Amino acid sequence: MKSENEEGSRKGAEARSVLDACCGSRMFWFDRSDPRTLFVDRRNERHVLPDVSSKGGSRELIVAPDVQADFTALPFEAESFWHVVFDPPHFERNGARSWVGLKYGTLSGDWREMLRRGFAECFRVLKPGGTLIFKWCADEIPVGRILELTPERPLYGHKSGKNSRTHWIAFIKLCASAPLREETKQPGFSPTLRRGDAEAASEGVCTR
Ligand SMILES: C[S@@+](CC[C@H](N)C(=O)[O-])C[C@H]1O[C@@H](n2cnc3c(N)ncnc32)[C@H](O)[C@@H]1O
Repeated sequence: MKSENEEGSRKGAEARSVLDACCGSRMFWFDRSDPRTLFVDRRNERHVLPDVSSKGGSRELIVAPDVQADFTALPFEAESFWHVVFDPPHFERNGARSWVGLKYGTLSGDWREMLRRGFAECFRVLKPGGTLIFKWCADEIPVGRILELTPERPLYGHKSGKNSRTHWIAFIKLCASAPLREETKQPGFSPTLRRGDAEAASEGVCTR
């Protein structure tokens, strides 16, 4: 018999188009209950954190994913989501029980392998034509060292936050079976539709 988490994974992936692969307390979401999105994290926990700027001097941190899972082994079929956001822990030195550690998680053990598998899994569950946003705060580890962990090529990015160290980087998943057409690499190439492309596009078939 399937567990509630497994059944939730199947139904969730069928019903929603967006995956947050490690949602934490969903701080960056406009709507923390966005109905289009399936929220995943390996933690499911609540903490009361001291916070002088909050009424009462404390605030609650709630990590309550729809599906509790590890992004190195996502419990979803391949090509399930149109959009994936991947915002893994980015600090090695904050200590798992510190305020920052509770909010963002901590990199420990063989974290490079963990992130390598996380990227691979996020791309596996992404539909061809789908997009992925990777977020990385480079306070401790430069973003270039992390991008080496995936063979995927980023499209473009934006830096934000204090000292512009938080990177938001966009990727797209193209069709694996279709190598770039030779003519697209030639100078002066103009991307007009060829016969058959329009039909294929309307059927959702990628012909690149
Ligand atoms: C930087 S925080 C995400 C913050 C989130 N984007 C937000 O807006 O609040 C990273 C999260 O990754 C989770 N995490 C760490 N390793 C994980 C793994 N292997 N699988 C799933 N989640 C993981 C941590 O529990 C933590 O909540």
